[in-house]
Parts: sequence; structure tokens; C-alpha cells
Amino acid sequence: MPKVTRCSVMRTTLAWAALACAPLAAADWLVEAPDDTTRFERLESYLGGFSAAMWETHHRYELLHEALTVDNPELAVYHWEKIKSAIQGGYMKRPGRQANSDALFLDETWPAVHEALASDDEETRWNAFMRARSACMGCHVAEDVEFMNRQRLFTDLTAPED
Ligand code: HEC
Repeated sequence: MPKVTRCSVMRTTLAWAALACAPLAAADWLVEAPDDTTRFERLESYLGGFSAAMWETHHRYELLHEALTVDNPELAVYHWEKIKSAIQGGYMKRPGRQANSDALFLDETWPAVHEALASDDEETRWNAFMRARSACMGCHVAEDVEFMNRQRLFTDLTAPED
């Protein structure tokens, strides 16, 4: 006897429910997938590529700026550490992005900014933010997405003017 699942019951008893069981709309989109290959394909597509990692990076970068604005260096360091993981997760999915990520961001800038963000000196912390900003923007130029730099994230979020 075939395994009776919630989806198959719905399929046979309610014609309209077949829609809810369509591959990408089903609540059990992984459990009900026909095989592991399909499961992995669905996960891969759902997890996205480098832009998904940049989406997280974007959010945390804003929160990093906010943390410095409210004078909370611990929170700034916290987001800076998560930004590193997000970028590494991004190039795990898109290895072509690793060389510039490492050379322009992670190898030298990241540890220097990490140390400076924890400083007692407010100016040192803001200088670190501006160094991080330059590294983000430099990688966008190197990766042929310079248009990313022309948005409020980069034009408005800067160190406070004296
Ligand atoms: C590999 C070098 C690299 C580094 C380092 C990098 N980016 Fe990006 N960023 C990219 C690329 C490439 C894209 C476009 C991704 C795509 O089209 O799949 C992108 C896209 C973005 C986007 C648009 C994301 C979206 O789809 O919503 C934002 C925002 C962004 N980056 C912010 C940042 C910030 C902030 C930093 C620094 C903390 C940063 N990036 C560091 C390469 C980089």
C-alpha cells in the first residue's frame, strides 16, 4: 500500500488542494520531494547565491553604523564578525567571488577593522568604519558591480562630520 501522506490525502480528496501540493508551494516542499537530488536542488536555489550573502551583509553593515552611532562598540564588533561569516558563506556558494573577497576585504582590512572597532577611542572606531566602507566599495568596482556604490547605504552612511 502506498504511503499515505497529508499531501496525497489532500490530492485525492480535494481537487483544489492539488494546487497547494504543487512542487514549490507545498508546505512539505522538502519532505514530499521525489528524491534527494530534487531536495538539494530546491535547497540550493532557495539559499541563493552571492547576492543572498550581500543581503545579510547589507543589513549588518547598517546595524554596524547604528551601533557606532549609539556608542556601542561591542555590538559593532558583533556585526563585523557576522559580516565575515556572511561573505565566506557567499563565496562557498560562488567560489568565483573568493579571490577579491580575500584580497580586498578579509585578509587585511577585516582584522584591522576588527581591532579598531573594539578601541576605546571613538575616532579610531569611525575611521575603521570608513575603511570598511572603502573595502566594500572597492570590491564592487573589482567585481563589475560599481552601481552598488551609488545608493544611500554608501552615500549617506558615513562617519559623522566634525
Ligand atoms: C567579492 C567582493 C565583495 C565584497 C567584499 C563586498 N561586496 Fe557587496 N556585492 C558584491 C557583488 C559581486 C554583488 C552583486 C551580487 C550578485 O549580483 O549576485 C554585491 C552586491 C551587494 C549589494 C546588493 C545586494 C542585494 O541584492 O540586495 C549590497 C547592498 C552590497 N553588496 C553591500 C556590501 C557591503 C555593505 C559590503 C561590505 C561590508 C560589501 N557589499 C562587500 C561583491 C562584494
